Amino acid sequence: MKTIKHIGVFTSGGDSPGMNAALHGVAKTAEMNNLRLSGFKKGYEGLIDGDLVQLDSSQLKKNVHRGGTLLKTARSKRFLTLEGRQRAMQILEMNKVDALIAIGGDGTFKGLLAFSEICDLPFLGIPGTIDNDLAGTDFTLGFDSAVNTAIENIDKIRDTAESHNRIFLIEVMGRDCGYIAIHSGLGTGADAILIPESGHDFIQLLEKAGSYDREEAFVVIVSEGDELGVEPAAKKIKEINPEVDLRIAKLGHVQRGGNASAFDRMLGIRLGTAAVEALLHGRKNVMAGILNNQLSLTPFDQVVKEHQVNDELRSLLKIFGS
Ligand code: F6P
Repeated sequence: MKTIKHIGVFTSGGDSPGMNAALHGVAKTAEMNNLRLSGFKKGYEGLIDGDLVQLDSSQLKKNVHRGGTLLKTARSKRFLTLEGRQRAMQILEMNKVDALIAIGGDGTFKGLLAFSEICDLPFLGIPGTIDNDLAGTDFTLGFDSAVNTAIENIDKIRDTAESHNRIFLIEVMGRDCGYIAIHSGLGTGADAILIPESGHDFIQLLEKAGSYDREEAFVVIVSEGDELGVEPAAKKIKEINPEVDLRIAKLGHVQRGGNASAFDRMLGIRLGTAAVEALLHGRKNVMAGILNNQLSLTPFDQVVKEHQVNDELRSLLKIFGS
């Protein structure tokens, strides 16, 4: 095994609060071990273009709390091509990078998996996405912050919903995964929660909406990946009960920004540190995550397997959320 002297790091896909904390974890641990650290900008795009900067922890330390990513990010179409990946490999060779750390979500790990087929360097991943849709970790970086932001905003919408006794359909992010919806819905006492993982929940929702009597607000949290979706759900409710006073709110990208929660800052520091240490211990092509609050390393091919809301949470939906 080649001695690691120079590590490259990048953030990729949708930014998430906690990415900067993870960068700090990586930088500090690299410094402790006398390693050089280069940051590639804009995710895989920076790898292809050779757009890199030297990183040191003194600057990153001041940004541990900040949302977004100081290294910038992108969803790279070029890296999906073999030519793009070959170019990235050349850039790594030219810059004498011995190992690579990627911080990102599902698309990032699929990219790493494809890259590992042509490039022999050791890769280490850190789960960074608000969606919490990766296997091999109980929580991804940014999920906790996004749920807190969603809850803060849903509480506000509830104030106005209750004043008017309105039905509100509130769409939250999460791609094909209902974790943000279920956490933010249960945490705000929502009257119904629609998530992609439970197929028939809208039938109960429509029954409830049909008997809605304008004496109380009725707040529904809809995961963006739910098969029904907010607009069709609103249409169906109106068909059943044309008199309803109904509004739609899409929380959108507000959920991705803002300072990282205490949990995500700590998670970022832990996983950033663990990633460098795992590389130094000879590990490759695994993601650093936490399972039962213990650090854990999971091979990339298992990380990208579907990670859906678990049975326990789904059973809570039957009691509280639909
Ligand atoms: O993966 C994070 C996420 O915010 C998803 O929840 C959402 O579906 C998607 O990214 C939005 O992507 P974009 O910022 O490219 O519109």
